[in-house]
Amino acid sequence: MVMRILIVDDEAAQMRALCDTLGQRGYQTVGCSSGEAALAVLNGQAGDGGAEAPFQVLLADLMMPGLDGIALVQAARAIDPDLACIIMTGEGTIGSAVQAMQVGALDYILKPFRVSVILPIIARALETRNLRIMNASLELRLREHAVQLVRINEELQVARLQADRANQAKSAFLSNMSHELRTPLNAILGFAQILASEQLPSTPAQKKQFAGNILQASRHLLRLINDILDLAKVESGALTLETEQVGLSQVLQECRTLVDPLARMRGVELRVSVADGVSVMADRVRLKQVLINLLSNAIKYNREYGTVSVHCAEAAGGERLRLSVQDTGAGLDEKQLEAMFQPFNRLGQEGGTQEGTGLGLVMTRHLVEKMGGELGVVSTPGMGSTFWVALPVFLA
Ligand SMILES: Nc1ncnc2c1ncn2[C@@H]1O[C@H](COP(=O)(O)OP(=O)(O)O)[C@@H](O)[C@H]1O
Ligand SMILES: [Mg+2]
Repeated sequence: MVMRILIVDDEAAQMRALCDTLGQRGYQTVGCSSGEAALAVLNGQAGDGGAEAPFQVLLADLMMPGLDGIALVQAARAIDPDLACIIMTGEGTIGSAVQAMQVGALDYILKPFRVSVILPIIARALETRNLRIMNASLELRLREHAVQLVRINEELQVARLQADRANQAKSAFLSNMSHELRTPLNAILGFAQILASEQLPSTPAQKKQFAGNILQASRHLLRLINDILDLAKVESGALTLETEQVGLSQVLQECRTLVDPLARMRGVELRVSVADGVSVMADRVRLKQVLINLLSNAIKYNREYGTVSVHCAEAAGGERLRLSVQDTGAGLDEKQLEAMFQPFNRLGQEGGTQEGTGLGLVMTRHLVEKMGGELGVVSTPGMGSTFWVALPVFLA
């Protein structure tokens, strides 16, 4: 790259001589005979969008009428901070040369001088200029690095918090799980011990009752283990879903066949009003599991002779279908809604007549979200609850 030097001296002859000499040494030179003219050249260059290559070096006379060397260096460096400025000064004005250095000149040279003296000074000024530019870019990169580090640190902290929380949830799950498993197991052990005991003779009717208790506890234990394994499979990501077009009314009909006996037992009426031909994108088997969960809850936690109504409506501007399961049960209060979706939390039904593990809704929500949908609930205590599932609509 050819180095460009701007030479400024009010003694025109001297200025031209310097232009010629440096030009012969391979520099590209431009001469000005006043500070104002030099500034105009620099300004024009900054203004025309860098059409011409920038100057690397400014050689300026110190004593000039109008804009002097110091003022010129100051103004020039405001236009281009990388410009290497050298002040030319006569003997006896060293004080002013120092002042020029203070406003950003890199070096000074005493007049009159020979070419052999100015050349190394220019070379040194160029070197200093390059070092400065490199320094500035290093500093910029360092600053960018620092910003990046801060961001990475913040991300790490968030990740750690998340991991901590997940860890706590896992610990709570495990301790709840062992409690839940131990309860029916202790019942089985206890009743079996009584049955086997010689010291505690029991009547045939009592024996039958204890055996019934053992059976009930065993079934509950089995259901718990099945639910836990199912949930673990989903949470570990081992479960892969196959989404396809699933017709809602057909899948609802299949679910209905499965929950009808439960509804009849409680005298609950099922009303399904979903038009034929409405389809969602879902995994057929898992969608069925979701709907059976919601329907059996709506039946179990309904009042006797209550109703369960199933509706379907468009949502999210037609991108989703929202299926609602509405019951006429006791409903859920604010506190119960807050504690919903906690594994093993049966929201007060622990002592009730309805069997359950408290894992159904946790599983249901996982499945719905894995299918790209959303599960929600609205409830009015004393009136009933509506659980809804929004799923991507199938567009033919
Ligand atoms: N439709 C509903 N109406 C009132 N309460 C409900 C309803 N569905 C669920 N619940 C409450 O939420 C709890 C958790 O439900 P779920 O996860 O399905 O577990 P489970 O039915 O095995 O107890 C239930 O025990 C019940 O208290
Ligand atoms: Mg349930």
